[in-house]
Amino acid sequence: MFHPVQAFSFKKTCYGVYLLLWVLASGLHHASAALNSCSRDTGTGGAFLSAGDSQQVSIPTVQVQTDIPSLYKILDGFFPVGAAIWKGDITGPHSELLRKHFNSITTENAMKMGVLQPSEGTFDFTTADELVRFARANLMLVRGHTLVWHKQNPPWVFKDSGGNALRPTRENRALLLGRLEKHIRAVVSHYKGEVYAWDVVNEAVDPEQPDGFRRSPWLEIIGPEYIETAFRIAHEASPGAKLYINEYDTTNQAKRAFLLKLVRDLKRRGVPIDGVGHQMHNRVDYPSTAAITETLEMFSELGVGNQITELDISVYRNSTDSYPAVPEGVIFEQGYRYRELFQTLRRLKGKVSSVTFWGLADDHTWLKSFPIVRRDLPLLFDEQLQAKPAYWGIVDPSRLPTAAGVRQRNGAAR
Ligand code: XIL
Repeated sequence: MFHPVQAFSFKKTCYGVYLLLWVLASGLHHASAALNSCSRDTGTGGAFLSAGDSQQVSIPTVQVQTDIPSLYKILDGFFPVGAAIWKGDITGPHSELLRKHFNSITTENAMKMGVLQPSEGTFDFTTADELVRFARANLMLVRGHTLVWHKQNPPWVFKDSGGNALRPTRENRALLLGRLEKHIRAVVSHYKGEVYAWDVVNEAVDPEQPDGFRRSPWLEIIGPEYIETAFRIAHEASPGAKLYINEYDTTNQAKRAFLLKLVRDLKRRGVPIDGVGHQMHNRVDYPSTAAITETLEMFSELGVGNQITELDISVYRNSTDSYPAVPEGVIFEQGYRYRELFQTLRRLKGKVSSVTFWGLADDHTWLKSFPIVRRDLPLLFDEQLQAKPAYWGIVDPSRLPTAAGVRQRNGAAR
């Protein structure tokens, strides 16, 4: 499973103390993944980290399994299988894992407005272009994420020339609409012919609001028309691209009702929307596959497509728990959840045109810092890039232990 131990030295900028403690507490095996992310954070890539100081540790480096089936080949005929990626995923073992199992990518952060237009009128496509080039070279599809969101925006976008927050006035509405249009036109044109599907508007619905619209600065300053404007401009800039409205928790009944109404309304008014992106940040106990089926069918009946855009399954059942070590039983339970979900998605053939995981392997997942900092292991490959029960739940469920075995292990772990 591992290459021979290699010599490492590491940068102070990597959580050195934390790692050192972890190395002492859990042995080198467990520390390797963190060191990998460390090496990627500092941009050194691959196996070696340079310190500039005398600290030296030896840790094993990971090896991607070559003797297991390719996930996207197993699911061929149903939908392409994607992963959200960052720069660290296109070199070394991560790139091997990516190439073996996935035939689609989304850039995890590299196409967000704060990255692409850090100051007004200055676009920086460097990282996103690298990821797109990798995808093209490896014949992978590219989903674009995301054009309009209430998060990860550049600070200037909601400010006037004096640096003051934009208030909802007629002038500011025109100003912000202009910025929105310019951004979308520039980005979508840049990736015309490369990005086949865009998450045009992200997380616009808030069921807590009487009208269902999230109170983002886009809404407060422009009004709900920001949504249709975004779709129309994206379509003008790349008429061939598929355009999605992307949302989390789409099985929530109140939220789903607003989203259905919004999509129906956009369609009726001729807004070029192709479908709904369901983020699917699930948990081991939520939502039920029945609710997922119902949701996907409801949008299908509306005449729009569905894509699963950010799939992961947290090992937790709430936002506060934290396991020092995730019990093996929970990892098996997660395997069953993935099995059920993919049985459902296969059954819905034709109604779901893409499934993207929000990450490649458990060594790099946003759920390690959201909703709190904790050890979460939500993906198909573990921190050493090895296939988990979650992977087998999709590829060959006969490799999962029996339900009784899972209960026993869970019981033993509690
Ligand atoms: C997350 C990224 O994974 C993190 O690296 C970043 O710090 C915050 O954003 N819904 C989305 C994604 O639409 O863009 C988010 O990605 C996860 C939730």
